[in-house]
Amino acid sequence: MAKLTAFSLLLSCLLVLFLSSTSAVTDEDKKEYIVYMGSLSSRADYTPMSHHMSILQEVTGESSIQGRLVRSYTRSFNGFAARLTESEREKVAKMEGVVSVFPNEKLQLQTTSSWDFMGLKEGKKTKRNPTVESDIIIGVLDGGIWPESESFSDKGFGPPPKKWKGVCSGGKNFTCNNKLIGARDYTSEGARDSDGHGTHTASTAAGNAVADTSFFGFGNGTVRGGVPAARIAAYKVCGETDCTSDAILSGFDDAIADGVDLITISLGGILARIFKYDPIAIGAFHAMAKGILTVNAAGNNGPITRTVSPVAPWILSVAATTTNRGFVTKVVLGNGTTLVGKSVNAFDLKGTKYPLVYGKSWASSKCSAESARDCSPSCMQKSRVEGKILVCDGPDGIWDATNFGAIAVIFQSLKPDVAFIHPLPTSGFQPEVFESLVSYVESADSPQAAVLRTETIFNQTSPVIASFSSRGPNIIAPDILKPDITAPGVEILAAFSPNAEPSEHDTRRVKYSVLSGTSMACPHIAGVAAYIKTFYPKWSPSMIQSAIMTTAWPVNATETGITSTEFAYGAGHVNPIAALNPGLVYELDKADHIAFLCGMNYTSDILKIISGESVTCSQKNETLPRNLNYPSMSAKLSESVKNYTVTFIRTLTNVGKPSSTYKSTVVADHGPKLSVEVTPSVLTFKTVNEKQSFRVSVRGSDLDSELPSSANLIWSDGTHSVRSPIVIYCYS
Ligand SMILES: *[C@@H]1O[C@H](CO)[C@@H](O)[C@H](O)[C@H]1NC(C)=O
Ligand SMILES: *[C@@H]1O[C@H](CO)[C@@H](O)[C@H](O)[C@H]1NC(C)=O
Ligand SMILES: *[C@@H]1O[C@H](CO)[C@@H](O)[C@H](O)[C@H]1NC(C)=O
Ligand SMILES: *[C@@H]1O[C@H](CO)[C@@H](O)[C@H](O)[C@H]1NC(C)=O
Ligand SMILES: *[C@@H]1O[C@H](CO)[C@@H](O)[C@H](O)[C@H]1NC(C)=O
Ligand SMILES: *[C@@H]1O[C@H](CO)[C@@H](O)[C@H](O)[C@H]1NC(C)=O
Ligand SMILES: *[C@@H]1O[C@H](CO)[C@@H](O)[C@H](O)[C@H]1NC(C)=O
Ligand SMILES: *[C@@H]1O[C@H](CO)[C@@H](O)[C@H](O)[C@H]1NC(C)=O
Repeated sequence: MAKLTAFSLLLSCLLVLFLSSTSAVTDEDKKEYIVYMGSLSSRADYTPMSHHMSILQEVTGESSIQGRLVRSYTRSFNGFAARLTESEREKVAKMEGVVSVFPNEKLQLQTTSSWDFMGLKEGKKTKRNPTVESDIIIGVLDGGIWPESESFSDKGFGPPPKKWKGVCSGGKNFTCNNKLIGARDYTSEGARDSDGHGTHTASTAAGNAVADTSFFGFGNGTVRGGVPAARIAAYKVCGETDCTSDAILSGFDDAIADGVDLITISLGGILARIFKYDPIAIGAFHAMAKGILTVNAAGNNGPITRTVSPVAPWILSVAATTTNRGFVTKVVLGNGTTLVGKSVNAFDLKGTKYPLVYGKSWASSKCSAESARDCSPSCMQKSRVEGKILVCDGPDGIWDATNFGAIAVIFQSLKPDVAFIHPLPTSGFQPEVFESLVSYVESADSPQAAVLRTETIFNQTSPVIASFSSRGPNIIAPDILKPDITAPGVEILAAFSPNAEPSEHDTRRVKYSVLSGTSMACPHIAGVAAYIKTFYPKWSPSMIQSAIMTTAWPVNATETGITSTEFAYGAGHVNPIAALNPGLVYELDKADHIAFLCGMNYTSDILKIISGESVTCSQKNETLPRNLNYPSMSAKLSESVKNYTVTFIRTLTNVGKPSSTYKSTVVADHGPKLSVEVTPSVLTFKTVNEKQSFRVSVRGSDLDSELPSSANLIWSDGTHSVRSPIVIYCYS
């Protein structure tokens, strides 16, 4: 097996895969490109597939386009994937009707008590609408699904909702049922999930309640999704090694046309990209136009700033937080001291102490000091390792340690806030704890220790944003705050593929496993969105998004600095019960998003093709991106600005009591102070669905280049509290 670097460890643990250019090219000078052509023409005589073929014939000058056309998108939007040379790519990009041409790249997958923690309790304690819930279909774009998992059993389910137009074409030996009502495969591996990720995310969103599930006893209890009565349709857009843009677009093209109500997609690129080159932004735009909300994982590239990958305002982008359930693994040293680290260690060594060996001592001409400290596999020798517990500066050696006869590994963790499963007993220490271990190893005559079985703890310090969760600011639309919301994404127990490895080189097989990542947070929000939809089936994607964002719990910055601000958690931590009753919502429709794109200076020609209608961009203030009627308010200013005034225009729709009066208050949060004036400061509604507009004028001086200035605007009628973060920054 390939050696794992510290970087790939993080990736494999979090089940994050990353962007690189495609290698699926047969002919050396041809590459795969996506040719995106916007909305489908409504002309009755228009056949997209023959249009795609004639375009290809024209640019290639060949009558046979065999081996050129990879895929056609013909159901929900227009476009195709094809193998082109560089000059053909240039030609096709100039053709009428073509919005954008971009390489077919690889994107990456981003990985229960979490529902209780969020306030959505089991059984009668939670208000539910089971009849409507069973009409909700969640489209899961991921790495497939394990159809036989108990989480997807159809016991008690009636036939699929009438609106369902999908199919079950998951390949050989793959059957759907009345819970898992559809499957499609774009990888030619079959829709069966081989690594557990897709099964985990689907069951978190909408899995059945299954009692007495655990990972070897950890997290024992009833595991369930947010909407256990809802249906699932699985779209396998990720193969064993990657998720390609062309497969992702196919997944959207089909899911929209099949009649799903919501799309959850726990994958993405390393960085955000311009909307017309971003397959998820493109697919989600067409989903939004059809009333389907897309929920997408923020990415696992934190705490580095500017890494959040879903940045379009028509996508709900989800960060990851801890819950109050944590896993800790204690290590008892030979001198009696106990040190606490993190891992999910189900191996029971019965408290036996074994000799400790620090990788550092292996340095030689064949093994650099640095590799030795990290217990790099190239430095390991059976004679040094067998029967011992390795002490390593990094996690490199974990996956090979068993082969050399090691008993356990204690390592300095790169992500000390997350417990990972490993193929042998481990404990991951934070730097200070690791230092004290090293001082013991280096001072004791015959250092030894026992690695205990993991303990489940109640952690009051929660929710805390996960270190790995990708951070803003938004590099594509700087005035749209991203991520939007945060949800549990650390140490989540959910269904797993029984033939997948719970960790690399792991010979155990389980039906439920513990994973961490924004991939795991994303389906929590999809579940909440579906839950809201069961009470308000007619609500648009933006109404659901607004309800989730404006009712979120405030999250406190735990550390100072930009990585623990709204750029980490957006509007805050989801509160599913409050989201059912938001009082007021910020509504957006397709026309608003088009006005926003106008404000981003997209040419009206491109806009016309994207939206399928002719578009005239107005020059009014309303079209400034920051005036999009979004549930959060943000503006990026130049660093040289001293005294500034920024205005936001917003409109609220009453979805609460017919007659209600809301008063505004502003609460300062962090950074140099903002003076906020709201006009009018009181909004009075007489009817349901009535809209009222207001203006928020923010004054301040001397922005901090390292810390955004923020405040919260709260509209309250005494019952509802409709909160929006206001974030002004100059960080770049
Ligand atoms: C179908 O797949 C399941 C799960 O991998 C396996 O247990 C079963 O043997 C397979 N059946 C056939 C006919 O291949
Ligand atoms: C899980 O909890 C149930 C009920 O408390 C118990 O019967 C079962 O043995 C537990 N399972 C494990 C693996 O600990
Ligand atoms: C054991 O070693 C640790 C690490 O060096 C040290 O902090 C601790 O005080 C020692 N405990 C005893 C009882 O000597
Ligand atoms: C509780 O969670 C916080 C935040 O992740 C973490 O810093 C702390 O170490 C945890 N406490 C324990 C006892 O693991
Ligand atoms: C945030 O801090 C305030 C003041 O310390 C406290 O009252 C509040 O409960 C905290 N909120 C959260 C979500 O921890
Ligand atoms: C759009 O163009 C106008 C006029 O050139 C410019 O002032 C504005 O900053 C541009 N907006 C964006 C988002 O690039
Ligand atoms: C547009 O914005 C400018 C500066 O913020 C303001 O002076 C002007 O009144 C606004 N115009 C409209 C029509 O709101
Ligand atoms: C900027 O604002 C500060 C405080 O509000 C004020 O004292 C100062 O005169 C202002 N500077 C300018 C150039 O307007």
